Amino acid sequence: MERNLALEVVRVTEAAALASARLMGRGDADACDSAAIGAVRKAFASVEIAGEVVIGESRGLVDGALSVGATLGEGVENGAPRMDVVIDALEGRRLCATGLPNAISVVALAPAGQFLRAPATYMEKIAVGPRARGAIDLSLPPIDNLRRIADAKGVYIDDLTVCILDRPRHEELVEQIRRAGARMRLIQDGDVAGAVATCTPHSGIDVLMGIGGAQEGIAAAAAVRCAGGDLQGRLLPHDEVTRAETDALGGLDRIYRVEELAGDNVVFAATGVTTGDLLRGVRFRARGASTHSVVMRLASGTVRFIETEHTFDREPFYG
Ligand code: FBP
Repeated sequence: MERNLALEVVRVTEAAALASARLMGRGDADACDSAAIGAVRKAFASVEIAGEVVIGESRGLVDGALSVGATLGEGVENGAPRMDVVIDALEGRRLCATGLPNAISVVALAPAGQFLRAPATYMEKIAVGPRARGAIDLSLPPIDNLRRIADAKGVYIDDLTVCILDRPRHEELVEQIRRAGARMRLIQDGDVAGAVATCTPHSGIDVLMGIGGAQEGIAAAAAVRCAGGDLQGRLLPHDEVTRAETDALGGLDRIYRVEELAGDNVVFAATGVTTGDLLRGVRFRARGASTHSVVMRLASGTVRFIETEHTFDREPFYG
């Protein structure tokens, strides 16, 4: 994959973050999402790829949503290379609508066929950073995983912080983690940021556990793989259609390794919308704003954090 493509993609997530953050806290998640989606479409138009969305928006669909099959980029007619696109223009739409932490804009790209085409359903996940790579096994009870992660990191279980979505379905898991002695960071939404934060040295998050969106699992896998961490996922269909899709892929018991979720030559970019564990959110000032992004490229293993100053009277503003 062309080296400059990794850096071009961050312009897309920056545009989406700027557009959605403008509406932060107004209580309208659909408006935040629409703004992000519109910005992604416009910003992608000048990216030299013939992109096809393989993982897109699924829930709370708003007008013009970037669903599976949507095309993005300059297109084949301009000789651009074909790429599969994983997109979550606004991951954590309710977080943006209420001004809570961890809303981000996410794009991952790879040559065709490298992402698992996961159904729009749920996924049980576990993610860790590079020091605990190889230590996780979703088929084991949470306590065993925590013990293995602690051993790999050379710390006690009490030293670990587990990020987990605050949901009733996690009651038993939360109890088990508490009994094991680990700390916990319960988040309202946004488990992509939670998973990627495990790979970021100063985030204070060691593990992500629990059930979240399957699409978010693929986006997280792209980043975790680039950053040298580890992630495993198991699909958990919520209806007959996604049950059939899950069966066609390998069934309920199949545990996907990170490289089966996100394959070779992956590029990942994310920009903070609201400040969170992974990234700072958009900070507006007169006629401008600052954004904070991360760009990763599997081929080189580079992880770049990028602080960008935007001046609205000089650069196109996609809001
Ligand atoms: P959206 O931005 O699409 O609403 O996703 C937010 C999110 O919290 C994800 O980060 C997470 O994977 C998923 O929703 C969890 O789903 P649910 O809210 O149904 O528990």
